[in-house]
Amino acid sequence: MTDASEASRHAIRQFYDALSASTNELVASHRPPDTRRGQMAILLDNIVEALAPLRDARVLDIGCGTGVLGLQIARHARQYVGIDLSPAAVDALQDRARAMGLTNVEARVADVLADDFAAAAPGSRSFDRVLMYTVINLAQTEEEGRRFMQGGLDSLAPGGRALVGSIPIEELRMTAPWRGAGGRGVGVARWVLRSHAGLPHTRAWKVRSLARRASDRLRPLAAGVADVPPHTPGQFVPLRRDMVEDWVRSTHPEMRWRWAVERIGAPMHASRADLIVEAPGSTTG
Ligand SMILES: C[S@@+](CC[C@H](N)C(=O)[O-])C[C@H]1O[C@@H](n2cnc3c(N)ncnc32)[C@H](O)[C@@H]1O
Repeated sequence: MTDASEASRHAIRQFYDALSASTNELVASHRPPDTRRGQMAILLDNIVEALAPLRDARVLDIGCGTGVLGLQIARHARQYVGIDLSPAAVDALQDRARAMGLTNVEARVADVLADDFAAAAPGSRSFDRVLMYTVINLAQTEEEGRRFMQGGLDSLAPGGRALVGSIPIEELRMTAPWRGAGGRGVGVARWVLRSHAGLPHTRAWKVRSLARRASDRLRPLAAGVADVPPHTPGQFVPLRRDMVEDWVRSTHPEMRWRWAVERIGAPMHASRADLIVEAPGSTTG
């Protein structure tokens, strides 16, 4: 790992350590503080649906954070293993699991980008389900993105399925060619009208998503979270659909994938997509 990569991991670890200590559950869950509880419920439904059936599954959650999402998955699964770069997040997840009375949960600190990740990983090719939710977007170079993908897919058992969720896709971004309200309007119109080959983001979906965004804007922000830093530190590599697909193809040519849209219309999700990757072989459940 290069010095620049080490430094950025350190900054990211510090950032998530600080968020994980928050008493506000949405902040501790590493969501933007204006996320609604209803949106969290939709998001969770999406994930459970994409990973179903879970009853007999061993689940690995890479970049599990404090487990606000992950432990809801663990409730449905046979075994749940969470790994995260942030020690404070892992501690919070363990506390939360104890409070929920879950006995099928394991969590440990690990860096999926570390050179020795394969050695430290909890089990190569042994997980029926792998979840990597809002994690791959933290890649600061294309090489890091490829390694995130490889770490996740290397952990899949034959017949297993990975959800690489909430990937910001550059082509889906609303770009305004000039500043101001007029520019924004043009950016939104172009976003709605553009079609995206290979991505399931239809115009109808975009219009519904805009309506949800508009109604969200009318609601007040959660109280007491004004001091939360709005952005993860670092320079993130813009992710394109073909780039992400190439990471799967180059590391696991035997695997098949499909894109899915998130039903949630929260502002940060409108330009995101989920990648569902299947390993060949016999399936669980
Ligand atoms: C945006 S949070 C998402 C948390 C959780 N997946 C969720 O959606 O609720 C990103 C998480 O990825 C973790 N992370 C970032 N880089 C990582 C790495 N190289 N290895 C393991 N975890 C990492 C961070 O510490 C943070 O907890």
